[in-house]
Amino acid sequence: MSAATSPVARFDPAPGGLRGTLRVPADKSLSHRAALFAAMASEPVRVRNYLDAADTRSTLGAVRALGALVERRGGGEELVIRGCGLRHAQEPDGPIDVGNAGTLMRLLPGWLAAQAGRSFTLDGDDSIRRRPVDRVAEPLRLMGARIDAREGRLPPFTVHGADLVGIEYAMPVASGQVKSCVLLAGITTAAGASVVEPAPSRDHTERLLARAGAPVWREGARVGVGHVDELELEAIDVPGDLSSAAFLIAAAVLVPRSRIVLEDVNVNWTRAGFLRILERMGAIVVGDLEEQGAFGPLEPVSELDVAHGSLAGTVVEAAEVPLAIDELPLVALLGCFAEGETVVRGAGELRLKESDRISAVVEGLRGLGAEIEAFADGFAVQGGGGLRGGRIATYGDHRLAMLGAVAGLASREGVEVEGMDAAAVSYPRFTADLAALLGR
Ligand code: S3P
Repeated sequence: MSAATSPVARFDPAPGGLRGTLRVPADKSLSHRAALFAAMASEPVRVRNYLDAADTRSTLGAVRALGALVERRGGGEELVIRGCGLRHAQEPDGPIDVGNAGTLMRLLPGWLAAQAGRSFTLDGDDSIRRRPVDRVAEPLRLMGARIDAREGRLPPFTVHGADLVGIEYAMPVASGQVKSCVLLAGITTAAGASVVEPAPSRDHTERLLARAGAPVWREGARVGVGHVDELELEAIDVPGDLSSAAFLIAAAVLVPRSRIVLEDVNVNWTRAGFLRILERMGAIVVGDLEEQGAFGPLEPVSELDVAHGSLAGTVVEAAEVPLAIDELPLVALLGCFAEGETVVRGAGELRLKESDRISAVVEGLRGLGAEIEAFADGFAVQGGGGLRGGRIATYGDHRLAMLGAVAGLASREGVEVEGMDAAAVSYPRFTADLAALLGR
């Protein structure tokens, strides 16, 4: 999507603040996994509260192309997915379109690599074609699959399935996507598979594998899974997405007179780094967060009660980055309004997201009046001055679009967001939810 031709939306200062109670959209990470697990299962799986957004529609399209049946029940509230079984994905007629969904592109090959004798090509939009797949191709090749990628590392790419062998894989980067891909491939091997993570990353795949009857274990930084013949899961309930909630939380923290309550939000500690960062910055966010280090099959949920308050700068180091990876752009925004300096380091991965989120955030916020500097692996913001306002480009990145909207509400003169429609990738109702909380 080109920013120049995309719809422009304006977000003005909100003197009355944000007020009210809201249910945020279903978790995107978990929705992708729910559809993939259901497609890999042999018996039908009911998925309640599946996210209806562009990214997760791509996942339903992909599993259908592979032979799964997807039915909507109860006015669309519940999906029933009849899968193909672990080893019986069908070869589709043409390439599988992953759209803008990096998680789909990096998790699905774990399953496809185990489809011996069949080949699958994955492709997506302009943004996905810039995102590397060598990080999953490397371990899958070591397990016995053949992967052909454009320039050796980019989509479109083809996975040639094989009877895989087990692996012990030291991951060069902390990535929930790479870990998930290896574990999904690992359950089909006789010996199982394990990865060593440089730092803990989101563990939704491990929790779902455990619920589906796979032997999952963790010892220090190593996470592993043993062989299973089939995945057994009757139903998956998808809770609200903390990454979507984060934009409303940031808005309520920044805009005077705000007080909001967000219901049924996933507070898995491997996702809740943003809430811990906010706590350090002095923000008022009350919720029942999961204890750090917890490891179990359930996804914890909580209500979050958020109020406006003043902020202090903070430092986010590499170990905390995977726990807040998608919320780090918001840390930069909050830093503009915090007393002192806010620094994020060890976050070079941000350059490989839907856009280069270091350049896009630093240039975008600087254009709105921020004092912010980019590093190869992060940024530093000199806070206290707030934001003047102006215009921000989103480069088709949903999280940049929502960041621009929140910046507008907190700014002195308002912000025009070029390409607000990108929000539909994860949060189609975002502008309407914001308007409801603003009483507009
Ligand atoms: C995701 C993992 C993260 C995150 C992405 C979703 C997932 O990517 O940025 O939005 O669902 O596993 P990495 O773990 O590869 O950094």
